[in-house]
Amino acid sequence: MAEVGKIVNIMNILVTGGAGFIGSHIVDALIAQEHRVVIVDDLSTGSRRNINAQAMFYKLDIRSSRLEKIVRDVKPQAVFHHAAQMDVRRSVQDPVFDAQTNILGTIRLLAACEHAGVTNIVFASSGGAVYGDGTPLPTLESAAPSPASPYGIGKLAGEHYLRYTGARSRCRWVALRYANVYGPRQNSSGEAGVIAIFAQKMLTGSGPVINGDGRQTRDFVFVDDIVRANIAAVKSKKNGIYNIGTGRQCSINTVARLVARAAGYKPSIAHGPAKEGEQRKSAIDSHKAKEQLRWNPEVALEEGIEKTVAWFRQRKAR
Ligand SMILES: NC(=O)c1ccc[n+]([C@@H]2O[C@H](COP(=O)([O-])OP(=O)(O)OC[C@H]3O[C@@H](n4cnc5c(N)ncnc54)[C@H](O)[C@@H]3O)[C@@H](O)[C@H]2O)c1
Repeated sequence: MAEVGKIVNIMNILVTGGAGFIGSHIVDALIAQEHRVVIVDDLSTGSRRNINAQAMFYKLDIRSSRLEKIVRDVKPQAVFHHAAQMDVRRSVQDPVFDAQTNILGTIRLLAACEHAGVTNIVFASSGGAVYGDGTPLPTLESAAPSPASPYGIGKLAGEHYLRYTGARSRCRWVALRYANVYGPRQNSSGEAGVIAIFAQKMLTGSGPVINGDGRQTRDFVFVDDIVRANIAAVKSKKNGIYNIGTGRQCSINTVARLVARAAGYKPSIAHGPAKEGEQRKSAIDSHKAKEQLRWNPEVALEEGIEKTVAWFRQRKAR
């Protein structure tokens, strides 16, 4: 369970995507703080196993016309919007589906929030996808966004709709641009989540493969730190866009070595062909979140990887 600051007043809170990797950790932390939590999730990539038994759960697509009534009935004081199509490759292959979920679904949710008088919305955006290649590293929020995929375009559009809705309805809004999030419950069969993929493969003895030379870098942030950022966003009473990462680049070779050490995996790790169009380097600067949200990443990569591998090991044993 993440150690997080407390939202003092007990609230009704809606978490979209609350059966997924990040959303379910947010739900657990909110329930531990005794908030009343409602989850909307269509279980397309999320899982019933992740759903906190004390949350109310609606199996629903955020694009559904039923969403508005649910939001009106729940009357949430805060909404954490994490439901999304989050597969970058799928967004390239099927940009219409990506936009339907990530842009139209977000518009539908925001309209429902406006009608229900929601006063706080936190939106899960993406540092890696919104900035694109070529920005100075670690990238600041002030860098011109240049998304290199439909997924990144959709996240940027979501931020604009959020800001617009906030201004229209006097609702406080925060978009958190996450770096590469990792931790327990991450899907190890998706295209993202290299730490989950390596952990799963190393623990089952099926050799992981590093794409290209492995010197490409990413900024890895542990899911408990993401939970704290979401809670800090609601507590801050600020509006704005914040990077949520460590500011540090870590190569895929280093990550593979750390996961292998935690998993007790000895064989050498194979390299395959580089992925076409893959971003070479990425890291985001989170000083703004430090100053305005009083948020700092607290979990070191080695510790986070150990916790993640321990979770995959335990799941394998069940
Ligand atoms: N994991 C990362 O590194 C990362 C980085 C940047 C941003 N994000 C964002 O964080 C959020 C959560 O991502 P995650 O890593 O937990 O992924 P995830 O796939 O585990 O969670 C997404 C959840 O949304 C649900 N969902 C998808 N489409 C839906 C729809 N139309 N209606 C209702 N529910 C729907 C899924 O079933 C799933 O439970 C997403 O918005 C993602 O874009 C994630």
